[in-house]
Amino acid sequence: MTVQTLVLRHGRIEQRVCFAAVDAVPSEEFLSGSEKEQLAGYKFAAKKKDFLLGRLAAKRALGALLPEPDLRRIEIGAGDHGEPLVRHPQAGSTEVTLSHSHGVAVALAYAAAYPMGIDLETISAVSAGTIIGELGTSAPEQAWLAAAGVDDATACCVLWTAREALGKALKVGLNRPLGELALTDIRAVGEGNWVGRYLNYPQCQCLSQAHGDRVLSLAMPVEAELGAWPRLK
Ligand SMILES: CC(C)(COP(=O)(O)OP(=O)(O)OC[C@H]1O[C@@H](n2cnc3c(N)ncnc32)[C@H](O)[C@@H]1OP(=O)(O)O)[C@@H](O)C(=O)NCCC(=O)NCCS
Repeated sequence: MTVQTLVLRHGRIEQRVCFAAVDAVPSEEFLSGSEKEQLAGYKFAAKKKDFLLGRLAAKRALGALLPEPDLRRIEIGAGDHGEPLVRHPQAGSTEVTLSHSHGVAVALAYAAAYPMGIDLETISAVSAGTIIGELGTSAPEQAWLAAAGVDDATACCVLWTAREALGKALKVGLNRPLGELALTDIRAVGEGNWVGRYLNYPQCQCLSQAHGDRVLSLAMPVEAELGAWPRLK
């Protein structure tokens, strides 16, 4: 489990953003009563596991930001499009974004004035070719794929997670043509780290990072800077 406080800067404004990563399925005692009922309603073990991992990551990130040591007092519901809704007496405009992939969940708690989205995926060489074909890649993305020296599986994961992170920041998920969420101006900023802009959403930028066999992407306002990259471990 990792909990990290990052500083988001916009001009002279500084906001704390809290990141959490959870890689071991917890027992349910950190859930509220209604969340325990929700958990009991899931039929499949994989869904239960994702729910526990995702809720713990989200509550640890929120618990650090609010701050609230008793995670049972923080509840996370869902909005009309599946977006997480934070319930806590001191939540104010605090929001959370979360993702789970193959036994790991990550979350970012942030102030709504600076909308953020997060996505974590496991790199899969098997599906890379198909997915790249289906992404509706933009010309700048194709140029990056050809020149960046990144293997197809990782590149596919960067492009995919960048779209999903933006869909979450916009609260629409992937409920729209994928090509609409395409990137432009993708730059490497160190080994395994990329920064990109969005072709149709110039107000947002993407930070993507390869961590072993996973890629983590964040979408956030273009005018803001994050003091450090989130750490999975
Ligand atoms: C967002 C989405 C792409 C995530 O898919 P995924 O790759 O399977 O899952 P991830 O693990 O990366 O992310 C899942 C989390 O994204 C969040 N999420 C779901 N929909 C979201 C949305 N519209 N906006 C922001 N975040 C969203 C949820 O917190 C979810 O976790 P939870 O279900 O445990 O609360 C997908 O759920 C989607 O496209 N949803 C929108 C479609 C829609 O409108 N559905 C109606 C739901 S009632």
